[in-house]
Amino acid sequence: MSNVKFYSGENIPLEMHKVRIVQKLNIWPIERRLEALQEAGFNNFLLKNRDVFMDMLTDSGVNAMSDKQLAAMMEADDSYAGSETFSKLENKVQEIFGKSFFLPAHQGRACENVIAQSFVKPGSIAIMNYHFTTTRSHIVRNGGRVEELLSEEGYQVNSECPFKGNLDIAKLRALIAEKGAEAISFVRFEAGTNLIGGQPFSLANLKEARQVCDEFGVMLVLDASLLADNLYFIKVREEQCRDMSIREITRAIANQADVIYFSARKLGCARGGGICTNNEQHFAKMRELIPLYEGFLTYGGMSVREMEAMAVGLEETMDEDMINQGPQFIAYMTEELQKKGVPVVTPAGGLGCHINAMEFVKHVPQQEYPAAALAAALYLVSGVRGMERGTMSEDRDANGVEPLADMELVRLAMPRRVFTLSQVKYAVDRIAWLYENRELIGGMKFVEEPKILRFFLGRLDTMTDWPTALVQKFRSDFGDSL
Ligand code: F0G
Repeated sequence: MSNVKFYSGENIPLEMHKVRIVQKLNIWPIERRLEALQEAGFNNFLLKNRDVFMDMLTDSGVNAMSDKQLAAMMEADDSYAGSETFSKLENKVQEIFGKSFFLPAHQGRACENVIAQSFVKPGSIAIMNYHFTTTRSHIVRNGGRVEELLSEEGYQVNSECPFKGNLDIAKLRALIAEKGAEAISFVRFEAGTNLIGGQPFSLANLKEARQVCDEFGVMLVLDASLLADNLYFIKVREEQCRDMSIREITRAIANQADVIYFSARKLGCARGGGICTNNEQHFAKMRELIPLYEGFLTYGGMSVREMEAMAVGLEETMDEDMINQGPQFIAYMTEELQKKGVPVVTPAGGLGCHINAMEFVKHVPQQEYPAAALAAALYLVSGVRGMERGTMSEDRDANGVEPLADMELVRLAMPRRVFTLSQVKYAVDRIAWLYENRELIGGMKFVEEPKILRFFLGRLDTMTDWPTALVQKFRSDFGDSL
Protein backbone atom coordinates (compact mmCIF):
# COMPACT_ATOMS: atom_id res chain seq x y z
CA MET A 1 0.00 0.00 0.00
CA SER A 2 2.59 2.51 1.10
CA ASN A 3 4.74 1.70 -1.94
CA VAL A 4 2.16 3.00 -4.39
CA LYS A 5 2.98 6.59 -5.27
CA PHE A 6 0.43 8.89 -6.90
CA TYR A 7 1.53 11.02 -9.87
CA SER A 8 -0.25 13.95 -8.22
CA GLY A 9 1.98 13.55 -5.17
CA GLU A 10 -1.08 13.14 -2.97
CA ASN A 11 -0.71 10.78 -0.05
CA ILE A 12 -3.80 8.60 -0.37
CA PRO A 13 -4.24 5.23 1.32
CA LEU A 14 -5.00 2.75 -1.44
CA GLU A 15 -7.19 -0.20 -0.52
CA MET A 16 -5.65 -3.62 -1.17
CA HIS A 17 -9.01 -5.36 -1.24
CA LYS A 18 -12.26 -5.04 -3.11
CA VAL A 19 -15.74 -4.94 -1.68
CA ARG A 20 -18.02 -7.84 -2.58
CA ILE A 21 -20.81 -7.59 -0.03
CA VAL A 22 -22.38 -4.31 1.00
CA GLN A 23 -24.84 -3.13 3.62
CA LYS A 24 -27.22 -0.27 2.94
CA LEU A 25 -26.84 2.76 5.19
CA ASN A 26 -29.36 5.37 6.28
CA ILE A 27 -28.81 9.03 6.85
CA TRP A 28 -31.73 10.76 8.52
CA PRO A 29 -32.43 14.49 8.69
CA ILE A 30 -30.80 16.23 11.64
CA GLU A 31 -34.19 16.71 13.34
CA ARG A 32 -34.68 12.92 13.47
CA ARG A 33 -31.13 12.51 14.76
CA LEU A 34 -31.93 14.87 17.62
CA GLU A 35 -34.92 12.71 18.56
CA ALA A 36 -32.76 9.60 18.39
CA LEU A 37 -30.18 11.23 20.68
CA GLN A 38 -32.87 12.17 23.18
CA GLU A 39 -34.23 8.61 23.12
CA ALA A 40 -30.68 7.37 23.76
CA GLY A 41 -30.10 9.61 26.79
CA PHE A 42 -27.42 11.44 24.79
CA ASN A 43 -25.25 8.33 25.08
CA ASN A 44 -24.07 7.05 21.69
CA PHE A 45 -23.95 3.52 23.10
CA LEU A 46 -27.73 3.60 23.41
CA LEU A 47 -28.42 4.68 19.84
CA LYS A 48 -30.00 2.19 17.47
CA ASN A 49 -27.76 1.39 14.54
CA ARG A 50 -30.61 2.13 12.15
CA ASP A 51 -30.25 5.78 13.20
CA VAL A 52 -26.50 5.82 12.52
CA PHE A 53 -24.81 6.68 9.23
CA MET A 54 -21.17 5.85 9.95
CA ASP A 55 -20.73 3.64 12.97
CA MET A 56 -17.34 4.63 14.35
CA LEU A 57 -18.18 3.58 17.90
CA THR A 58 -15.74 0.71 17.87
CA ASP A 59 -13.78 -1.72 15.78
CA SER A 60 -14.88 -4.53 18.07
CA GLY A 61 -16.59 -7.37 16.21
CA VAL A 62 -17.43 -5.10 13.26
CA ASN A 63 -14.36 -5.38 11.05
CA ALA A 64 -15.01 -6.60 7.52
CA MET A 65 -14.26 -10.28 7.10
CA SER A 66 -12.44 -11.72 4.12
CA ASP A 67 -13.78 -14.16 1.54
CA LYS A 68 -11.44 -16.77 3.01
CA GLN A 69 -12.81 -16.24 6.50
CA LEU A 70 -16.38 -16.65 5.27
CA ALA A 71 -15.43 -19.75 3.31
CA ALA A 72 -13.78 -21.27 6.38
CA MET A 73 -16.94 -20.69 8.41
CA MET A 74 -18.76 -23.14 6.14
CA GLU A 75 -16.41 -25.94 7.13
CA ALA A 76 -16.83 -25.60 10.88
CA ASP A 77 -16.91 -28.83 12.85
CA ASP A 78 -19.71 -28.47 15.35
CA SER A 79 -19.05 -30.70 18.33
CA TYR A 80 -19.21 -29.81 21.99
CA ALA A 81 -15.96 -31.54 22.85
CA GLY A 82 -12.86 -32.07 20.73
CA SER A 83 -14.02 -30.28 17.60
CA GLU A 84 -11.67 -30.22 14.64
CA THR A 85 -12.28 -26.50 14.38
CA PHE A 86 -10.81 -25.95 17.83
CA SER A 87 -7.70 -27.92 16.86
CA LYS A 88 -7.26 -25.68 13.81
CA LEU A 89 -7.49 -22.57 15.94
CA GLU A 90 -5.23 -23.97 18.63
CA ASN A 91 -2.62 -24.85 15.99
CA LYS A 92 -2.79 -21.37 14.49
CA VAL A 93 -2.33 -19.71 17.89
CA GLN A 94 0.59 -22.05 18.63
CA GLU A 95 2.17 -21.29 15.29
CA ILE A 96 1.79 -17.53 15.47
CA PHE A 97 2.59 -16.91 19.13
CA GLY A 98 4.78 -19.94 19.80
CA LYS A 99 2.78 -20.85 22.91
CA SER A 100 1.84 -24.47 23.57
CA PHE A 101 -1.26 -24.01 25.68
CA PHE A 102 -4.41 -22.26 24.46
CA LEU A 103 -7.64 -21.53 26.29
CA PRO A 104 -10.67 -20.24 24.39
CA ALA A 105 -12.94 -17.55 25.84
CA HIS A 106 -15.98 -15.76 24.49
CA GLN A 107 -14.28 -12.35 24.29
CA GLY A 108 -11.42 -10.24 25.66
CA ARG A 109 -12.97 -9.31 28.98
CA ALA A 110 -13.73 -12.96 29.64
CA CYS A 111 -9.98 -13.60 29.37
CA GLU A 112 -9.47 -10.72 31.80
CA ASN A 113 -11.88 -12.31 34.24
CA VAL A 114 -9.99 -15.60 34.13
CA ILE A 115 -6.57 -13.93 34.40
CA ALA A 116 -7.63 -11.61 37.22
CA GLN A 117 -9.24 -14.45 39.21
CA SER A 118 -6.13 -16.57 38.72
CA PHE A 119 -3.41 -14.06 39.48
CA VAL A 120 -4.76 -10.98 41.29
CA LYS A 121 -4.54 -11.34 45.07
CA PRO A 122 -6.30 -8.84 47.35
CA GLY A 123 -4.03 -5.84 47.86
CA SER A 124 -1.80 -6.69 44.92
CA ILE A 125 -0.76 -4.28 42.19
CA ALA A 126 -1.11 -4.84 38.46
CA ILE A 127 1.42 -2.62 36.72
CA MET A 128 0.64 -1.58 33.17
CA ASN A 129 1.49 0.89 30.44
CA TYR A 130 -2.15 1.99 30.56
CA HIS A 131 -5.39 0.48 31.79
CA PHE A 132 -8.37 -0.54 29.72
CA THR A 133 -11.85 -0.11 31.19
CA THR A 134 -12.82 -3.78 31.53
CA THR A 135 -9.27 -4.80 32.52
CA ARG A 136 -9.22 -2.48 35.47
CA SER A 137 -12.72 -3.42 36.57
CA HIS A 138 -11.74 -7.09 36.74
CA ILE A 139 -8.57 -6.34 38.67
CA VAL A 140 -10.41 -4.14 41.16
CA ARG A 141 -13.22 -6.71 41.57
CA ASN A 142 -10.58 -9.21 42.62
CA GLY A 143 -9.18 -6.86 45.27
CA GLY A 144 -6.19 -5.61 43.29
CA ARG A 145 -5.32 -2.21 42.02
CA VAL A 146 -3.79 -0.80 38.87
CA GLU A 147 -0.63 1.25 38.70
CA GLU A 148 -0.01 2.90 35.34
CA LEU A 149 3.59 3.58 34.44
CA LEU A 150 3.11 5.08 31.02
CA SER A 151 6.08 7.00 29.65
CA GLU A 152 5.77 10.78 30.00
CA GLU A 153 5.28 11.22 26.23
CA GLY A 154 2.19 9.03 26.38
CA TYR A 155 0.35 11.70 28.32
CA GLN A 156 1.08 14.37 25.72
CA VAL A 157 -1.87 14.65 23.38
CA ASN A 158 0.43 15.98 20.67
CA SER A 159 3.93 14.71 20.34
CA GLU A 160 6.44 13.43 17.84
CA CYS A 161 7.08 10.32 19.91
CA PRO A 162 6.49 7.22 17.75
CA PHE A 163 5.87 4.94 20.76
CA LYS A 164 3.58 6.75 23.17
CA GLY A 165 2.41 3.41 24.55
CA ASN A 166 5.83 2.66 26.07
CA LEU A 167 6.15 1.88 29.75
CA ASP A 168 8.59 3.85 31.89
CA ILE A 169 11.26 1.25 32.67
CA ALA A 170 12.98 3.21 35.44
CA LYS A 171 9.67 3.63 37.25
CA LEU A 172 8.90 -0.06 36.74
CA ARG A 173 12.14 -1.12 38.39
CA ALA A 174 11.69 1.37 41.21
CA LEU A 175 8.10 0.33 41.93
CA ILE A 176 8.83 -3.39 42.02
CA ALA A 177 11.91 -2.77 44.18
CA GLU A 178 9.85 -0.64 46.56
CA LYS A 179 6.83 -2.91 46.88
CA GLY A 180 8.56 -6.29 46.46
CA ALA A 181 7.80 -8.82 43.76
CA GLU A 182 5.18 -10.60 45.93
CA ALA A 183 3.03 -7.46 45.93
CA ILE A 184 2.85 -7.39 42.12
CA SER A 185 0.24 -9.58 40.46
CA PHE A 186 1.75 -9.03 37.01
CA VAL A 187 3.05 -6.45 34.60
CA ARG A 188 0.59 -5.98 31.76
CA PHE A 189 1.50 -4.55 28.39
CA GLU A 190 -1.40 -3.41 26.28
CA ALA A 191 -0.69 -3.40 22.56
CA GLY A 192 -2.06 -0.33 20.80
CA THR A 193 -3.10 1.29 24.10
CA ASN A 194 -6.79 1.86 23.64
CA LEU A 195 -7.62 4.75 25.95
CA ILE A 196 -4.78 7.05 24.98
CA GLY A 197 -5.43 7.00 21.26
CA GLY A 198 -4.32 3.58 20.04
CA GLN A 199 -0.65 4.33 20.69
CA PRO A 200 1.91 1.53 20.28
CA PHE A 201 4.79 0.30 22.41
CA SER A 202 8.15 -0.58 20.86
CA LEU A 203 9.67 -4.02 20.86
CA ALA A 204 12.76 -2.56 22.55
CA ASN A 205 10.63 -1.22 25.41
CA LEU A 206 8.85 -4.54 25.86
CA LYS A 207 12.18 -6.35 25.94
CA GLU A 208 13.51 -4.00 28.61
CA ALA A 209 10.42 -4.57 30.71
CA ARG A 210 10.89 -8.31 30.32
CA GLN A 211 14.40 -7.98 31.71
CA VAL A 212 13.12 -6.16 34.75
CA CYS A 213 10.41 -8.79 35.23
CA ASP A 214 13.08 -11.49 35.05
CA GLU A 215 15.28 -9.69 37.58
CA PHE A 216 12.45 -9.70 40.10
CA GLY A 217 10.58 -12.82 39.07
CA VAL A 218 7.39 -11.02 38.02
CA MET A 219 5.00 -12.34 35.38
CA LEU A 220 4.42 -10.40 32.15
CA VAL A 221 0.97 -10.43 30.55
CA LEU A 222 0.35 -9.13 27.05
CA ASP A 223 -3.06 -7.83 26.00
CA ALA A 224 -2.80 -8.49 22.26
CA SER A 225 -6.29 -7.26 21.34
CA LEU A 226 -4.87 -4.35 19.33
CA LEU A 227 -1.71 -6.15 18.32
CA ALA A 228 -2.31 -5.78 14.56
CA ASP A 229 -1.91 -1.99 14.72
CA ASN A 230 1.05 -2.26 17.08
CA LEU A 231 2.75 -4.68 14.68
CA TYR A 232 2.32 -2.24 11.83
CA PHE A 233 3.80 0.63 13.84
CA ILE A 234 6.78 -1.44 14.97
CA LYS A 235 7.39 -2.41 11.36
CA VAL A 236 7.30 1.15 10.03
CA ARG A 237 8.58 3.14 13.01
CA GLU A 238 11.13 0.96 14.81
CA GLU A 239 14.45 1.12 12.99
CA GLN A 240 15.76 -2.22 14.30
CA CYS A 241 12.64 -4.05 13.10
CA ARG A 242 12.47 -2.69 9.56
CA ASP A 243 13.85 -5.88 8.03
CA MET A 244 11.78 -8.24 10.13
CA SER A 245 8.61 -9.79 8.74
CA ILE A 246 5.32 -9.25 10.60
CA ARG A 247 5.48 -12.88 11.61
CA GLU A 248 8.95 -12.42 13.09
CA ILE A 249 7.91 -9.30 14.97
CA THR A 250 4.88 -11.14 16.34
CA ARG A 251 7.11 -13.96 17.60
CA ALA A 252 9.60 -11.53 19.09
CA ILE A 253 6.77 -9.83 21.01
CA ALA A 254 5.17 -13.09 22.07
CA ASN A 255 8.50 -14.41 23.37
CA GLN A 256 8.56 -11.64 25.97
CA ALA A 257 5.19 -12.54 27.49
CA ASP A 258 4.34 -15.30 29.98
CA VAL A 259 0.66 -15.04 29.20
CA ILE A 260 -0.99 -13.54 26.12
CA TYR A 261 -4.69 -12.83 25.80
CA PHE A 262 -6.74 -11.16 23.11
CA SER A 263 -10.15 -10.07 22.06
CA ALA A 264 -10.72 -11.72 18.70
CA ARG A 265 -13.40 -9.12 18.12
CA LYS A 266 -10.37 -7.00 17.26
CA LEU A 267 -7.42 -9.28 16.58
CA GLY A 268 -8.31 -11.59 13.73
CA CYS A 269 -11.53 -9.79 12.69
CA ALA A 270 -13.94 -12.33 14.17
CA ARG A 271 -15.77 -12.60 17.50
CA GLY A 272 -14.27 -14.38 20.49
CA GLY A 273 -11.08 -14.44 22.45
CA GLY A 274 -8.35 -16.57 23.92
CA ILE A 275 -5.43 -16.93 26.30
CA CYS A 276 -2.15 -18.69 25.58
CA THR A 277 0.96 -19.52 27.55
CA ASN A 278 3.91 -21.88 27.71
CA ASN A 279 3.73 -22.07 31.49
CA GLU A 280 2.01 -25.28 32.53
CA GLN A 281 1.21 -24.06 36.05
CA HIS A 282 -0.38 -20.85 34.82
CA PHE A 283 -2.31 -22.88 32.27
CA ALA A 284 -3.59 -25.34 34.87
CA LYS A 285 -4.74 -22.51 37.13
CA MET A 286 -6.66 -20.69 34.41
CA ARG A 287 -8.03 -23.83 32.78
CA GLU A 288 -10.26 -24.62 35.75
CA LEU A 289 -12.20 -21.43 35.24
CA ILE A 290 -12.97 -21.92 31.55
CA PRO A 291 -15.72 -24.56 31.87
CA LEU A 292 -17.19 -22.55 34.74
CA TYR A 293 -17.47 -19.20 32.97
CA GLU A 294 -16.97 -19.81 29.29
CA GLY A 295 -17.89 -23.29 28.14
CA PHE A 296 -16.04 -26.47 27.44
CA LEU A 297 -12.32 -26.23 26.73
CA THR A 298 -12.76 -26.73 23.01
CA TYR A 299 -15.09 -23.80 22.37
CA GLY A 300 -15.04 -21.42 25.37
CA GLY A 301 -18.34 -19.74 24.54
CA MET A 302 -17.54 -19.23 20.86
CA SER A 303 -19.42 -20.58 17.90
CA VAL A 304 -17.31 -22.94 15.81
CA ARG A 305 -17.94 -20.69 12.81
CA GLU A 306 -16.27 -17.78 14.57
CA MET A 307 -13.37 -20.00 15.57
CA GLU A 308 -12.82 -20.96 11.94
CA ALA A 309 -12.94 -17.30 10.93
CA MET A 310 -10.56 -16.42 13.73
CA ALA A 311 -7.97 -19.00 12.67
CA VAL A 312 -7.98 -17.55 9.16
CA GLY A 313 -8.12 -13.97 10.47
CA LEU A 314 -5.06 -14.52 12.68
CA GLU A 315 -3.16 -15.82 9.68
CA GLU A 316 -4.29 -12.82 7.60
CA THR A 317 -3.00 -10.51 10.34
CA MET A 318 0.49 -11.63 9.33
CA ASP A 319 -0.03 -9.84 5.99
CA GLU A 320 1.24 -6.27 5.98
CA ASP A 321 -1.29 -5.24 3.34
CA MET A 322 -4.04 -6.30 5.70
CA ILE A 323 -2.83 -4.61 8.87
CA ASN A 324 -1.86 -1.43 6.98
CA GLN A 325 -5.38 -0.46 6.14
CA GLY A 326 -6.57 0.70 9.58
CA PRO A 327 -3.54 2.81 10.54
CA GLN A 328 -3.27 4.35 7.06
CA PHE A 329 -6.94 5.37 6.93
CA ILE A 330 -6.62 6.71 10.47
CA ALA A 331 -3.50 8.69 9.53
CA TYR A 332 -5.32 10.11 6.50
CA MET A 333 -8.29 11.21 8.60
CA THR A 334 -6.07 12.63 11.33
CA GLU A 335 -3.98 14.63 8.85
CA GLU A 336 -7.04 16.00 7.04
CA LEU A 337 -8.50 17.15 10.36
CA GLN A 338 -5.20 18.71 11.37
CA LYS A 339 -5.13 20.68 8.11
CA LYS A 340 -8.46 22.16 9.14
CA GLY A 341 -7.15 23.06 12.58
CA VAL A 342 -9.18 20.43 14.45
CA PRO A 343 -7.36 19.25 17.61
CA VAL A 344 -6.52 15.55 17.27
CA VAL A 345 -4.19 13.10 18.99
CA THR A 346 -0.83 12.90 17.24
CA PRO A 347 0.95 11.01 15.99
CA ALA A 348 -2.05 9.16 14.55
CA GLY A 349 -2.36 5.81 16.29
CA GLY A 350 -4.28 2.65 15.62
CA LEU A 351 -7.90 1.79 16.39
CA GLY A 352 -9.31 5.11 15.29
CA CYS A 353 -8.88 8.82 14.87
CA HIS A 354 -9.01 10.55 18.24
CA ILE A 355 -10.30 14.09 18.66
CA ASN A 356 -9.02 16.04 21.63
CA ALA A 357 -12.26 17.19 23.23
CA MET A 358 -10.47 19.03 26.03
CA GLU A 359 -9.22 21.44 23.35
CA PHE A 360 -12.16 21.23 20.90
CA VAL A 361 -14.70 22.34 23.50
CA LYS A 362 -12.36 23.93 26.02
CA HIS A 363 -15.24 26.03 27.35
CA VAL A 364 -16.91 22.85 28.70
CA PRO A 365 -15.47 21.92 32.13
CA GLN A 366 -14.32 18.34 32.67
CA GLN A 367 -17.07 17.83 35.26
CA GLU A 368 -19.55 18.36 32.42
CA TYR A 369 -18.06 15.61 30.28
CA PRO A 370 -16.65 17.49 27.27
CA ALA A 371 -15.90 14.29 25.35
CA ALA A 372 -19.44 13.00 25.90
CA ALA A 373 -20.84 16.35 24.78
CA LEU A 374 -18.68 16.38 21.66
CA ALA A 375 -19.56 12.78 20.79
CA ALA A 376 -23.28 13.63 21.04
CA ALA A 377 -22.85 16.84 19.03
CA LEU A 378 -20.96 15.05 16.30
CA TYR A 379 -23.65 12.40 15.95
CA LEU A 380 -26.24 15.15 15.79
CA VAL A 381 -24.57 17.04 12.95
CA SER A 382 -23.38 14.06 10.91
CA GLY A 383 -24.90 10.73 11.91
CA VAL A 384 -21.33 9.64 12.72
CA ARG A 385 -21.27 7.69 15.96
CA GLY A 386 -18.03 7.97 17.93
CA MET A 387 -17.24 7.00 21.50
CA GLU A 388 -16.55 9.06 24.59
CA ARG A 389 -13.14 8.21 26.04
CA GLY A 390 -12.79 10.57 28.96
CA THR A 391 -14.24 11.17 32.41
CA MET A 392 -17.51 9.42 31.61
CA SER A 393 -15.44 6.27 30.90
CA GLU A 394 -13.97 6.43 34.43
CA ASP A 395 -15.67 4.92 37.48
CA ARG A 396 -16.13 6.73 40.80
CA ASP A 397 -13.77 5.55 43.54
CA ALA A 398 -14.88 3.79 46.75
CA ASN A 399 -15.72 7.19 48.30
CA GLY A 400 -17.87 8.22 45.38
CA VAL A 401 -15.30 10.69 44.09
CA GLU A 402 -15.24 11.03 40.35
CA PRO A 403 -11.70 10.94 38.94
CA LEU A 404 -11.14 13.32 36.06
CA ALA A 405 -9.64 11.47 33.10
CA ASP A 406 -6.09 12.22 31.93
CA MET A 407 -7.49 12.89 28.47
CA GLU A 408 -10.91 13.78 27.10
CA LEU A 409 -11.10 12.10 23.71
CA VAL A 410 -13.76 11.32 21.17
CA ARG A 411 -12.69 8.16 19.48
CA LEU A 412 -13.74 7.65 15.90
CA ALA A 413 -12.93 4.00 15.46
CA MET A 414 -12.02 2.79 12.02
CA PRO A 415 -13.44 -0.71 11.63
CA ARG A 416 -11.01 -2.38 9.26
CA ARG A 417 -11.90 -2.41 5.54
CA VAL A 418 -15.43 -1.13 6.28
CA PHE A 419 -15.55 2.51 5.15
CA THR A 420 -14.60 4.09 1.85
CA LEU A 421 -12.41 7.14 1.59
CA SER A 422 -15.35 9.33 0.56
CA GLN A 423 -17.16 8.38 3.75
CA VAL A 424 -14.07 9.35 5.71
CA LYS A 425 -14.04 12.66 3.82
CA TYR A 426 -17.69 13.21 4.78
CA ALA A 427 -16.85 12.67 8.45
CA VAL A 428 -13.91 15.11 8.17
CA ASP A 429 -16.16 17.69 6.51
CA ARG A 430 -18.81 17.58 9.24
CA ILE A 431 -16.22 17.58 12.04
CA ALA A 432 -14.60 20.65 10.49
CA TRP A 433 -18.00 22.38 10.38
CA LEU A 434 -18.65 21.45 13.98
CA TYR A 435 -15.27 22.85 14.96
CA GLU A 436 -16.21 26.18 13.38
CA ASN A 437 -19.39 26.10 15.46
CA ARG A 438 -17.90 24.65 18.63
CA GLU A 439 -19.03 27.51 20.85
CA LEU A 440 -22.59 26.25 20.46
CA ILE A 441 -21.76 22.96 22.20
CA GLY A 442 -22.51 22.87 25.93
CA GLY A 443 -21.99 20.46 28.83
CA MET A 444 -23.76 17.32 30.02
CA LYS A 445 -24.91 15.80 33.30
CA PHE A 446 -25.89 12.29 34.33
CA VAL A 447 -29.56 11.56 34.85
CA GLU A 448 -28.93 7.82 35.34
CA GLU A 449 -25.45 6.88 36.52
CA PRO A 450 -24.47 3.20 36.74
CA LYS A 451 -21.91 2.20 39.39
CA ILE A 452 -19.41 0.55 37.06
CA LEU A 453 -18.56 1.01 33.40
CA ARG A 454 -21.02 3.87 33.42
CA PHE A 455 -20.26 4.89 29.83
CA PHE A 456 -22.04 1.80 28.54
CA LEU A 457 -25.47 2.36 30.04
CA GLY A 458 -25.48 5.81 31.62
CA ARG A 459 -28.12 8.31 30.51
CA LEU A 460 -27.30 11.99 30.23
CA ASP A 461 -29.00 15.28 29.61
CA THR A 462 -27.61 18.54 28.30
CA MET A 463 -26.95 21.41 30.74
CA THR A 464 -28.77 23.81 28.40
CA ASP A 465 -30.74 23.31 25.20
CA TRP A 466 -27.60 23.62 23.06
CA PRO A 467 -28.58 20.81 20.63
CA THR A 468 -31.46 22.92 19.31
CA ALA A 469 -29.09 25.82 18.64
CA LEU A 470 -26.83 23.46 16.75
CA VAL A 471 -29.74 22.15 14.65
CA GLN A 472 -30.72 25.72 13.74
CA LYS A 473 -27.18 26.63 12.71
CA PHE A 474 -26.91 23.45 10.67
CA ARG A 475 -30.11 24.28 8.79
CA SER A 476 -28.99 27.82 8.09
CA ASP A 477 -25.62 26.64 6.72
CA PHE A 478 -26.64 23.41 4.93
CA GLY A 479 -30.20 24.25 3.85
CA ASP A 480 -32.17 21.06 3.26
CA SER A 481 -29.10 18.78 3.09
CA LEU A 482 -29.17 15.58 5.07
N1 F0G B 1 -8.42 -5.10 25.85
C1 F0G B 1 -8.42 -4.08 24.97
C2 F0G B 1 -7.16 -3.35 24.68
C3 F0G B 1 -9.62 -3.72 24.34
O1 F0G B 1 -9.62 -2.72 23.47
C4 F0G B 1 -10.80 -4.44 24.63
C5 F0G B 1 -12.07 -4.07 24.03
C6 F0G B 1 -10.74 -5.49 25.55
C7 F0G B 1 -9.53 -5.79 26.14
C8 F0G B 1 -11.95 -6.28 25.91
O2 F0G B 1 -12.31 -7.10 24.85
O3 F0G B 1 -14.55 -6.27 24.13
O4 F0G B 1 -13.74 -8.54 23.49
O5 F0G B 1 -14.38 -8.05 25.81
N2 F0G B 1 -12.30 -2.99 23.48
C9 F0G B 1 -13.55 -2.64 22.84
C10 F0G B 1 -13.48 -1.23 22.29
C11 F0G B 1 -14.74 -2.85 23.68
O6 F0G B 1 -14.51 -0.78 21.76
O7 F0G B 1 -12.45 -0.58 22.34
P1 F0G B 1 -13.83 -7.50 24.55
